[in-house]
Amino acid sequence: MTTSTTRPTLRLVVDGGTPVRSPQRRWPEWPVPAPGAEQLLTEALHSRRWAISSPSNGADLFERRFARRFAQYVGAAHCVPVDHGSSALVVALEALGIPHGETVLVPALTWTASATAVLRAGLVPMLVDVDPATGCVRPQDLDLDVGAAALVAVHWASVMADVPALEAVAGPAGLAIVEDVAQAHGATWQGRQAGTLGRLGCFSFQNGKVLTGGEGGAVVTDDAGLACTLEELRADSRRYRDDATPRGELDLEESAGVQGANFCLSEFSAAVLCAQLDELDAQHETRNRNYALLTELLAEVEGVRLLQPPPAQTRMSIYEATVVFDALPADVSTARLGEALTAELGRRFYPTDAPLHRSPLLQPGSKAALGPLAERFVELHRGRTYPGCDQIAGRCVQTHHSTFLGDGDDMQDIAAAVTKVRDALVRPR
Ligand SMILES: Cc1ncc(COP(=O)(O)O)c(C=O)c1O
Repeated sequence: MTTSTTRPTLRLVVDGGTPVRSPQRRWPEWPVPAPGAEQLLTEALHSRRWAISSPSNGADLFERRFARRFAQYVGAAHCVPVDHGSSALVVALEALGIPHGETVLVPALTWTASATAVLRAGLVPMLVDVDPATGCVRPQDLDLDVGAAALVAVHWASVMADVPALEAVAGPAGLAIVEDVAQAHGATWQGRQAGTLGRLGCFSFQNGKVLTGGEGGAVVTDDAGLACTLEELRADSRRYRDDATPRGELDLEESAGVQGANFCLSEFSAAVLCAQLDELDAQHETRNRNYALLTELLAEVEGVRLLQPPPAQTRMSIYEATVVFDALPADVSTARLGEALTAELGRRFYPTDAPLHRSPLLQPGSKAALGPLAERFVELHRGRTYPGCDQIAGRCVQTHHSTFLGDGDDMQDIAAAVTKVRDALVRPR
């Protein structure tokens, strides 16, 4: 007999049951090579210009073509491509000219690169908490007492940080806002693209990102001076020459305004990015349509929901979709939830990355070269707590954006699996 507290549940796959979704049904794979990618890659290959620091053959570098097109896509005056999203953050912080050893605020709920880039720029990341409702940093989370010079505003998973509200507090306190847009290409806030709301916007084009060239990154800005500095910072103190490049010479000239390093994007990645960009908006549409459907389906499943953006976010860019289990019993871990869903669906669901205040990936003390920066990092964080981050990490699981590139049947399967897992693990037993 069933009672209200002992409801019949189908046995979970992890306990030997039958999966919600037939293992024969495939999920979309990622990345999806764009139709034009192969041709552009071949063109790059035969051009013998595999790096931007290669003798000119009179043709436009893929890197420059991509920079123009991406700047146009996000609505920024300038785009400087780099080799990784992490490098984008490093050169963006360097371009601001912040003196060595100063502090930069970074939300603790992000990938470790948002903080390690700060250390690589000779600065100290100071972790701040986030809104448990969105996973993004809020004005009230900014600790202004430490006298920070900048804020890395991370748009997390599929939700944008409210950069105008952050600016209203950070600006008067002298903090420059660098947007970390690694997880939000093409998202908009009141019609404005992520990356154009702060002083600089930093993108990653690593393999899993919604726009990818395998590896890659870019910084966008409307500030022409910063753009010049960024160019030098990423190409060993060299910039593109203003005049036409004679054949056989480099397009880069030794302008040497600021000490740079080599963070240049490969021509192969740039060629792929040129093709992938053509597909981005159609992929956003598919993902967002499926996300809206799953949101509706989960509205029927008490205690579980998909994380939603605030009303001011006018377009989502789903990097990771976050499923929130609002009343997760203390004895059910997000790892167990993720395993159970993965087994039902044959698609990976997993806990969020560990918030950085307890992530094994952020350990400045393990790197001798960081010396006093690491010591200051430890000092700054003594006794700090991150309840917003812990709340998110303690009740959410995520899945990759490509899960949403299929059709409505996939969403029905997810809703069925979530219901089954909820009934088995979360409902009072
Ligand atoms: C929020 C965030 N910032 C920065 C990065 C670093 O980008 P990359 O891996 O291209 O260096 C990532 C990559 O996952 C990220 O998610």
